[in-house]
Amino acid sequence: MRLTVIGTGYLGAVHAVCMADIGHDVLGVDVDAEKIKALAEGRAPFYEPGFDDLLTRALASGRLRFTTNLRDAAAHGEVHFLCVGTPQRKDGGAADLHHVDAVVDGLAPHLTARCLVVGKSTVPVGTTSRLTDRIAGLVPTGVRAEVAWNPEFLREGFAIEDTLRPDRLVVGVTSPNADATLRSLYAPILAAGVPYISTDPNTAELVKVAANSFLATKISFINAMAEVCDAAGADVVTLAEAIGHDTRIGRRFLRAGLGFGGGCLPKDIRAFAARAHELGVGPAVAFLLQVDEINQRQRTRTVALARRMVGGTLTGRRVAVLGATFKPNSDDVRDSPALAVASSLHQEGADVRVHDPVGAKNARLAHPQLHCGSDLLAACQGADIVLHLTEWDQYGEVDPAELARVVDEPLLIDARNALPHDEWRAAGWTVRALGRPTPSDRLPSAHAVELLRTTITSQTGQTHRT
Ligand code: UDX
Repeated sequence: MRLTVIGTGYLGAVHAVCMADIGHDVLGVDVDAEKIKALAEGRAPFYEPGFDDLLTRALASGRLRFTTNLRDAAAHGEVHFLCVGTPQRKDGGAADLHHVDAVVDGLAPHLTARCLVVGKSTVPVGTTSRLTDRIAGLVPTGVRAEVAWNPEFLREGFAIEDTLRPDRLVVGVTSPNADATLRSLYAPILAAGVPYISTDPNTAELVKVAANSFLATKISFINAMAEVCDAAGADVVTLAEAIGHDTRIGRRFLRAGLGFGGGCLPKDIRAFAARAHELGVGPAVAFLLQVDEINQRQRTRTVALARRMVGGTLTGRRVAVLGATFKPNSDDVRDSPALAVASSLHQEGADVRVHDPVGAKNARLAHPQLHCGSDLLAACQGADIVLHLTEWDQYGEVDPAELARVVDEPLLIDARNALPHDEWRAAGWTVRALGRPTPSDRLPSAHAVELLRTTITSQTGQTHRT
């Protein structure tokens, strides 16, 4: 089938190479001429395991080409995929749809034959219906372009796998014809038994935001439990394992720590809350605002813990930060919890050295005030404290004894609950983690401090603010 993929950012580029890989004739389109040139020459504009090989293979097959011209796209595609970004609006949480609208406005007047326009970006519910009207007003007389929505659920770091072997395919269509076209387009993927859910566009659009909201809620739930564990002297990792054995709950996405970031979950829950408000059902999803707030709080909790561990002030302290990207196996630093913490430490006067195996360049671009590099020992040299903020595999392989010889103080915060704490402690490190008080060197919980304060006050009759 002849396909166009409009918008060759992360989502679009992965979709384009995967569609070429399963046999379609694909034209990738983007307004960014540099990105198009890089892709056409086989250079990936981002880091994604497996992407480079697939790009090279697709280009060599002759089934993948690139252009900046929407007129070429209009002439080429039987199906046009919309993969442009839907960022958060500057004036609030709602989604900014101007890229989607611009593509439709640029494409529709050049269409010459019946075709299907399929949105993949995450959008507010109602977008398919709005675009259907918009396109109908722009296409030449006699041309019919139907709009469908086919949300994408891929995770960064697993993008190829998630596209070629997804958990499910969801399509929102308004005609049997559109459904048949998409079924046949995805036939090589469906052949492996992947569930195919065909529904109306409103439901398809909502599936995507509902899925991301559920995932975000799961993470914030376990992080809320971590806060309770800290106050109660309990262990959130054991708690997560114990509740996760219940198959109704499940063990995945219950890793307590610094919380979620990236280009999707944070913006998607805010956009969903904003859209629900527009629809008059804001209170139904008001909990998402709290999910967001709990998530943000893990960042301030981590900074507060670091401050306490170095003796009450971060000013002049040397801090090593392990990890800059929002998660491992990605070079994406958008809304990275690790960089948000690093920035706060810097603002409090700490001398912060950030290490990341692949994200250092992007981190420097996003936060020029921070020192970011890819030499781990250099980042930890002379550190008063080390913060593990993104769980790259290589940090799990670090020799804690070797690192202890490089730092000034062997203090570690494992904000991702991913390092072998016993090994680090055996090598002389004092280890702290959110939601995981340790029996031997537990910091006083807020509750214990309050009890102590009450006792002192009742004994001395004086009130102290500590
Ligand atoms: C997410 C969705 O998983 C995907 O389906 C959607 O299409 C896009 O958004 P992605 O942003 O690539 O994908 O990352 P994901 O692997 O879902 O992780 C999101 C964030 O949650 C990361 O910052 C990660 O560190 C954090 N996380 C994840 C936790 O803090 N705890 C967990 O248990 C799992």
